[in-house]
Amino acid sequence: MCGIVAYVGPNPAFPIVIEGLKRLEYRGYDSAGIATIEKDGALTVSKKKGKVADLTSHIGKLTPTGSIGMGHTRWATHGPPNDINAHPHKGASDRLAIIHNGIIENFATIKESLKCRGHNLASETDSEVLAHLIEEVLDTSSLGLFDAVRAALSQVVGAYALVVIDKKNPGRLIAARKSSPLVIGIGEDGAYYVASDATPIISHTKNVVYLEDEEVASLDVESGLRIRTISNDIITPEVHALEIELESIEKGGYEHFMLKEIFEQPQSIRDSIRGRINLQLGEIKMQGIDDHWEKWENASRILILGCGTSWHAGLVAEYLFEEFARIPVEVEYASEFRYRNPIIRPDDVVIAISQSGETADTLAAIKTAKEVGAHVFGVCNVVGSSIPRETDSGAYTHAGPEIGVASTKAFTSQVAVLSMMALHIGNKKGNIPRERFTRLIAELNNIPELVEQVLDQAPRIDEIAKQFSKAENALYLGRGYQFPIALEGALKLKEISYIHAEGYPAAEMKHGPIALIDDDMPVIFIAPMDDVYEKVVSNVQEVKARGGRLLGVVTEGDKDVASLADHIIEIPRCDDALAPLLSVVPLQLLSYRMAVLRDCNVDQPRNLAKSVTVE
Ligand code: G6P
Repeated sequence: MCGIVAYVGPNPAFPIVIEGLKRLEYRGYDSAGIATIEKDGALTVSKKKGKVADLTSHIGKLTPTGSIGMGHTRWATHGPPNDINAHPHKGASDRLAIIHNGIIENFATIKESLKCRGHNLASETDSEVLAHLIEEVLDTSSLGLFDAVRAALSQVVGAYALVVIDKKNPGRLIAARKSSPLVIGIGEDGAYYVASDATPIISHTKNVVYLEDEEVASLDVESGLRIRTISNDIITPEVHALEIELESIEKGGYEHFMLKEIFEQPQSIRDSIRGRINLQLGEIKMQGIDDHWEKWENASRILILGCGTSWHAGLVAEYLFEEFARIPVEVEYASEFRYRNPIIRPDDVVIAISQSGETADTLAAIKTAKEVGAHVFGVCNVVGSSIPRETDSGAYTHAGPEIGVASTKAFTSQVAVLSMMALHIGNKKGNIPRERFTRLIAELNNIPELVEQVLDQAPRIDEIAKQFSKAENALYLGRGYQFPIALEGALKLKEISYIHAEGYPAAEMKHGPIALIDDDMPVIFIAPMDDVYEKVVSNVQEVKARGGRLLGVVTEGDKDVASLADHIIEIPRCDDALAPLLSVVPLQLLSYRMAVLRDCNVDQPRNLAKSVTVE
């Protein structure tokens, strides 16, 4: 949700900022812009509607050469995507420029008062007021840039990751953060980097400082890094070493990040379970649970919060926790939970699921839960992101960077971690017979090999995709553990191919969606041989009787669904509880290939962003 990147140091800023913007494009791609301060002291700003590639062709060969600069890639909130609303924004006297990710909630009031004081604001954005406000503080006080930014921000309500450059301070970046992510990189050559996440920084340095809420940093080639809070407390920066590798954020020969990430799943699931399952001792080890065991042991309810695909992982977890941990579970969209005066009790345990660890609604929901004393456990992928820092304990999914906007490997890693959690708690509580527990952890440990077998069927899935790629609608049906997978399959298809798709519990189809079925409608049944298989076969027959082009995702050796369906994709046999980890994979591949056949931009679908840091 808007990506920001900035550089100050001994080298020209332009190539570093443009490369960084390309890495951040998954966060938003409505428009892009860059500002530099040139050797002659000029502040140059170039911005363009469209992608970073549109910006670079707009700039052409006359690239800026200054060694301080910043760039922004936008996901529009206030004002449509156009050149004027693109960032960076300048102040009234062209002295400084800002880039911003977040929302300034009181921007309308600030804008009105700025106008009354003679300011002309060019854009419809909430962000532009920041440039004018900071410049006004500088012009009307004796404060330096660092203090002026702090003073201006004390008038601001809302969320921001902000970078400011100023012609009169050509060796200095000012960065500030509240509720939107910001990472500072410290180069060995005296350079500083600022970015929304570590991906633009990783090729330059592994030493980073995560800015906390309400902190403002001054990054100066001469006076170094200084951090203060908005209320002027001095903060000692804590330097962390980045653990991600450069290869993990590159396409590695794949046509798209999404395809690479689908194929990475055997490894990403392996990384999620590594060190947590001990087959010799027949146990699972999860420090985040063991350290707070009394909370889980006495939990009267588990409340699971998330958005998008993470919410679907939460739905799978509902089945897992109720089966194994035997604790009542409620799964909530974080965005709804917050606004309905929720009843949370101190003996509730809250699980917040988030790939990015930055989703604004999930973050805010966690704060609400913590206020009433609930224990909050985070299941997140991005190490050092806001949600893991806000929660009482948690487990990283270790899926590695996920760049494709449509979540794939992050989902299977979330489900793998949630499976381990449910099994671990169930085992500790004595709910699972020893023999079943031992078998389940062995099967979970072997899931990466089974995912590989599913991926081997990619060429066949590509063929099936050709049959369905012209469809305008699709229905995904599943029951029990496979109902959330029906939702996830439908979401994958609609977000990247723009085909209208709905996921439904197979039995509920009779209460409405069955009316949609005609000879053209693809109906995808996720029907492995599980507890509810017989019932699903009846549902398949109900569809078959009314037309519909049937695709079944079935267990290998299946006869009943296979005899009814036009196409089948087989997944290996495994325990019902673990089957979502396999059945989702062909649906990811199917959506991917259908979207490619329809010429869609798979990694950057229209209107979407990877990380939704606005509410
Ligand atoms: C966006 C992304 C989805 C993601 C959702 C929740 O909508 O496009 O892929 O599932 O946000 O994000 P989170 O980072 O909290 O899992």
